[in-house]
Amino acid sequence: MHVQKPLSKSPPQSTAPGTVMVRPLLLKPQWMNGLSERLLVSHYENNYGGALRRLNDIRARLAGLDWARTPSFEINGLKREELIAAGSVILHEIYFDSLGGHGDNPPTGHAEPPAGLAQALERDFGSVGAWRAEFTTMAKALAGGSGWAILAWSERLGRLVNQWAADHAHGLAGAAPILALDMYEHAYHLDFGAKAAAYVDQALANLNWERIGARYLLAIGERTGDDELFLPFGAPSRQEARISAEELKVALESDNDRRPVLLDVCLPRDLPRRKDMLAGAAMHAPAALSHWIKELPRDRPIAVYCICGFQVSGTAVAELRRRGYNARALIGGITAWHAIGGATVPLDTSIYEGA
Ligand SMILES: [Fe+2]
Repeated sequence: MHVQKPLSKSPPQSTAPGTVMVRPLLLKPQWMNGLSERLLVSHYENNYGGALRRLNDIRARLAGLDWARTPSFEINGLKREELIAAGSVILHEIYFDSLGGHGDNPPTGHAEPPAGLAQALERDFGSVGAWRAEFTTMAKALAGGSGWAILAWSERLGRLVNQWAADHAHGLAGAAPILALDMYEHAYHLDFGAKAAAYVDQALANLNWERIGARYLLAIGERTGDDELFLPFGAPSRQEARISAEELKVALESDNDRRPVLLDVCLPRDLPRRKDMLAGAAMHAPAALSHWIKELPRDRPIAVYCICGFQVSGTAVAELRRRGYNARALIGGITAWHAIGGATVPLDTSIYEGA
């Protein structure tokens, strides 16, 4: 299994086979409606990233196992941990995908499900309002404990269900989650303390119904995931203009001529959001491109990154490629790099000029 998608596309096979690859944040963490960037990025990098790293470590251990000689208690332990880590990875990805505004805009707090999903919610719960009341009450009932509130499509039951989950491995058999709300304390404590109910209400005011609706159509087989809805806004649409964090990690370990030159692009207003960078990267403002472009080699690959891999790196890569440079944008930016456990060094702005 080589798992990563804009929901169903497989990435280039330049990383270890079997690696479960990081999914980028699709929400803009600095512009959410009452959920802080600190909370969302910590959750994504540490809890989601931690589960992803754990899953890949467990899968590597399983791949090297001598099954005939391994004691059953060890197999039980590894397979149990694999199930928990995989459930955590998948549910966190659905959680983060389910939040955010449209394009470059923050969530309004007033978005409603698209027509197809709204009709399904009416059919199965009586109305969108009745679904919302049941879902939020179910989520709030998990306050003080932990788990997930999930909206899932069950083929067998022939309907959408609000599913209660006590942990990452708790799911309705055969059902496809289309919306997942994280009720572990790490999902809200930084912003809301112990006020889990306030967090539930705020999370519901940040839903990206367009993506949730797309997931519903995927679940019932009426759509594929091969579209830009599941790419960070402003990221290059063509795969050859993007590089994953895992691919970059491998490429940086390669010999000199294949090793990418690292370019860190950051808007002046975003500098206060930054603490670190990739070792060896040159940090520049996008607006000063005419100054720093002369330093870039034409005979080397160039990996360009920004904070989350939205339009800051996407626009820079489009311009560099237009001018004939072999530039690719890091999918998910330095945030995804953190999530896979990539090394960084303290921020160096010594060559940075604003424009
Ligand atoms: Fe979480």
